[in-house]
Amino acid sequence: MYQDLCGKVAIVTGGSGGLGAAICRRFADEKMSLVIHYHSNEKAANQLVNEIVNKGGKAISFQGDILEEETMQKLVNTALDQFQHLDIFVNNAGIEDPAPSHEMTLENWQKIIDINLTGYFLGARSALAYFVKNKIKGNIINLSSVHEIIPWPTFVHYAASKGGLRMMTQTLALEYAQLGIRVNAIGAGAINTPINKEKMHDPFKKAELEGMIPVGYIGEPDSIANAAAWLASSQSEYVTGITLFVDGGLTLYPSFREGKG
Ligand code: BGC
Repeated sequence: MYQDLCGKVAIVTGGSGGLGAAICRRFADEKMSLVIHYHSNEKAANQLVNEIVNKGGKAISFQGDILEEETMQKLVNTALDQFQHLDIFVNNAGIEDPAPSHEMTLENWQKIIDINLTGYFLGARSALAYFVKNKIKGNIINLSSVHEIIPWPTFVHYAASKGGLRMMTQTLALEYAQLGIRVNAIGAGAINTPINKEKMHDPFKKAELEGMIPVGYIGEPDSIANAAAWLASSQSEYVTGITLFVDGGLTLYPSFREGKG
C-alpha cells in the first residue's frame, strides 16, 4: 500500500477487462477514486464499478471512443465533475490483430496505429492540458509492451505502435518534467489476460511461450498492477520517462541464456 495514493483520482482507459481491470482493482484497494473508461463491454465495466463500490470504494464507468478528441476531453471533465480533480491518467486501451506484413491491409495497420498510439496521445493530451492549466503535478502511465524493443513478425503495426509509444513517453516526460508532471510506461511481457486467451488454452502454445520466458512462466495481471501503483505513487517521484519492463526477463535475449552465441 502507498499512503499517498489514498484519495487520488485516476482515469484508466480500457479499464473494464484484462490489465486495465487489474489496475483499477489495485487502485481501488489503494483507496483511489476511479473513472473506468470502456469502449464496448458495458456489462464488464458496470460489474467492476459495482464490485469496487460494494467494497466501499469510489468508481464510475465512462463509455467512449479514445480516438474522438471531444470524448477524451469529456473523460477528463467527467473525473473533475465527479471527483473534483484528476491526478493519474492511465492509457491502457490497446489491441492487436496479426497478419503477415506483405498481406496486411492499410485498414488493419491504421486501426492498430490509431488505437495504440494516436489514442494514447489524445488521452495524454487531455490530461496534460488539465495538469498544466491547474498546475497539477500529475502522472501519466502508458501501458506498453516488450514489443517496444522486441521486433515481432506479423505484428509490425503493433510493434511500430509500441516503439512509437516509447518515444512518445520519453518526449512527453522531457517536455513536462519541469512542471513536476511525470510520464512513464510499463512494458508488459506475456501476461495471463484475454488478449492471450488462445495461447493460454493451447497446451503446446502455452509451453512454447513459457519456454521463451527466462523465469519460466506467464505473468499475472497483478504484477502489472503492482508496477502501476508504484509508478503512480510518490515512491517513484524521481522516475520519469522510463519503460518499466514487467516481463519475467523476456527482454533479456533469452536465446543466449546458456552462454550460446
Ligand atoms: C502482447 C502479448 C504477447 C506479449 C509477449 C504483449 O505485448 O500483448 O500478446 O504475448 O507481448 O510477446
